[in-house]
Amino acid sequence: VKTIGVLTSGGDAPGMNAAIRAAVRRGLQKGVQMKGILKGYDGLMNEEIIDMTARDVSDTIERGGTILYTARCAEMRTPEGQKRAADVCRKHGIDGLVVIGGDGSFAGAQKLAALGINTVGVPGTIDLDIACTEYTIGFDTAVNTAMEAIDKVRDTSTSHERCSIIEVMGRNAGYIALWCGIANGAEDILLPEKYDYDEQKIINNIIENRRKGKKHHIIVNAEGIGHSTSMARRIEAATGIETRATILGHMQRGGSPTCKDRVYASIMGAYAVDLLLEGKTDRVVAYKNGEYVDYDIDEALSMTKTLPEYQWEIARALSYNYTK
Ligand code: F6P
Repeated sequence: VKTIGVLTSGGDAPGMNAAIRAAVRRGLQKGVQMKGILKGYDGLMNEEIIDMTARDVSDTIERGGTILYTARCAEMRTPEGQKRAADVCRKHGIDGLVVIGGDGSFAGAQKLAALGINTVGVPGTIDLDIACTEYTIGFDTAVNTAMEAIDKVRDTSTSHERCSIIEVMGRNAGYIALWCGIANGAEDILLPEKYDYDEQKIINNIIENRRKGKKHHIIVNAEGIGHSTSMARRIEAATGIETRATILGHMQRGGSPTCKDRVYASIMGAYAVDLLLEGKTDRVVAYKNGEYVDYDIDEALSMTKTLPEYQWEIARALSYNYTK
């Protein structure tokens, strides 16, 4: 492998810049030419490709977002788009590609590998929903941002003796909600993987807690369930307690990455380049049982992830609802 391209694809995540920086610097250190591909697969197809020097990634490790920009690219799901992407790689001499993104981005990488471009995926998403890995770039920052925001909502919620529903991101996965549920001491945690849509139970919890003198009631609701505003209206009507919904939204994707995100992303970015230089392709970098490892993309995409049951049990056990 003589020339390695790096791209970020799908939703951005804090720490992506640390991974880009690490890939670029590791590649240059090993004597490889490094190129940055702008705007994900979209930019690849449009040949938005730039040379990357060590200087180009200076002062980026602490920055949120992605300096390479990102996009969700529908064309990459078509055989024509995949062929075009592989042709552009060949035209620019890119014989290795690091793809930082989620499962959708890895599916594209797999197709490129089949078309002869050596590819390695790096898990980058705030959702933590990639089955082969216990860590994804951006989750730590996002969950800390959400936690701090929920603390703030709690202050005003307590002052007004209100019920607050705070909706966090995560697409169809409940990891951000589960972690915030514990970290913020939420009374109710609604996760797509667990919620039985029995709103009456929540209403009963609110009334019972209020009877016991609890001043606020925090409900962390996952985006995969959504509808927080209408839920708030129904809860207020049923309980007579003022209820507000706060949808945290894209603020969870921004901000300077935490130390954990910077360090893990750096190691994963460098690891991806090391794999390409060992002649590996069609791999995805993962963190499993305290180690950095890699999987065949096919195998990685066929794995399933389930919410950690014990963590869920404890999240509920520690909630005030269950305090006798
Ligand atoms: O995958 C990251 C994520 O932020 C999800 O949590 C969310 O469902 C989605 O992306 C939002 O996507 P967009 O930025 O395209 O609205």
